[in-house]
Amino acid sequence: MAIDAAHPVPPQLPRIAGRDNIPAHVPRELVRSIGLTFGPEFLAAPHEYMARLHETMPPIYYDANDYGNAWHLLKYEHAMFMLRHPEYFSNEGATPFPRDPEDYFYFIPIEIDPPHHRKYRAILEPVFSPKGVLALEGKIRDMANDLIDQIIDKGECEYTTDFGRPLPVSVFLDLMGLPQEKRDTFVKWAVDLLHSNDRTVMAEAMRVISAYLKEVIAEKTKNPDEHVISRIVHATVDGRPLSPPEIFGFVVFLFIGGLDTVFATLNNIWLWLARNPERRQEMINDPANINAQVEELLRAWSVTFSGRVLAQDYEMGGVKMKKGDRVTAILPACNFDPEIFPNPTVVDFHRPRKPILAFTVGVHSCMGAHLARLEIKVALQEWLRRIPDFSLKPGTRIEYRPGGVVGPEYVPLVW
Ligand code: HEM
Repeated sequence: MAIDAAHPVPPQLPRIAGRDNIPAHVPRELVRSIGLTFGPEFLAAPHEYMARLHETMPPIYYDANDYGNAWHLLKYEHAMFMLRHPEYFSNEGATPFPRDPEDYFYFIPIEIDPPHHRKYRAILEPVFSPKGVLALEGKIRDMANDLIDQIIDKGECEYTTDFGRPLPVSVFLDLMGLPQEKRDTFVKWAVDLLHSNDRTVMAEAMRVISAYLKEVIAEKTKNPDEHVISRIVHATVDGRPLSPPEIFGFVVFLFIGGLDTVFATLNNIWLWLARNPERRQEMINDPANINAQVEELLRAWSVTFSGRVLAQDYEMGGVKMKKGDRVTAILPACNFDPEIFPNPTVVDFHRPRKPILAFTVGVHSCMGAHLARLEIKVALQEWLRRIPDFSLKPGTRIEYRPGGVVGPEYVPLVW
């Protein structure tokens, strides 16, 4: 039965973890225990590692590890099918992010299946449509230039701290109708919540963020404006106002889904640019090809995964999956599928156009995709115009953290 988002209850579906808890229907020859993002090879060079999975793993395997068991899909076509068939692959209970069972809420719209899902998405369509985000272009350009003004004369920066994180946060604050003075606080909250390995730090970050967002929701209830939080607060579905857990679940999911993903994408791209001066020059020499460049960089540096739960038994690629099984599409690996993208790890700005899976496809495809593309495009245009020549600071060791969003922690640059 479909969940009732206005009256959320914690999911009954147990989280199965470890090799001792492999369901009987899973063929033992398909079981691996790689704990994908936690392994040393992944943490050394995550995208190279995920590209190699096509050679080292079956196209569908069952990862049994202490963090949670799931089928992993590596093939583009399998992921496409999963994403386009919510009647088999449900989003209810598919988001791993923990919540307080006493004060439960669903992440909206990501945890809602069709047909209800559409009603929530429609609320923000005017803001996130291609036309809606285009209205932000001038502002994003100014924000990017303000950040560059602060570092350009220094001849060096720590990219993630000085640009890769503050730019998306500034855009986000504007979009949500929150004050720019909160920028550094939001960067800290996002990093504490999404990058800490310490559960106490994460729980405290979630508590502080929730308290702040609830205060803002109360304020927007009294004083409406045209920005995103206010639109959610004053929206209706099926002729009724949204309930407090629906409003909170929507607002907090935008925070979780709309910041770290952009941070990581920018940080990955700038690391690649710093390491590949001749490719950077190629981009500078061909400014008219910027949209294809952004798309190809998003393919090569896709940063996240997509989880579902089987709503009914389904056989895919000869593998029998059962209702209740968890499935994760390893989107970066799908974007490196050599059958779809020949020489997949080569960044080729003239590839024949095919839908990429960085933002997924189907009903849950990223609502912020047009905005993210615009942010990346403007950031590239302004940075490469003003700082065309830069490299990694000598002696730099690049580090990654385990987790659902893949990007380097620090990218120190010099020019
Ligand atoms: C490069 C940056 C980004 C990446 C790589 C990214 C990636 C994704 C992916 C893969 C999904 C789909 C998950 C699935 O099908 O299971 C998704 C959904 C979503 N994203 Fe993004 N995202 C980015 C930026 C943003 C931004 C800037 C926002 C908003 C401020 C945003 C808001 C959302 C929302 C609301 C959903 C849920 C859509 C739905 O369930 O219908 N994302 N994102």
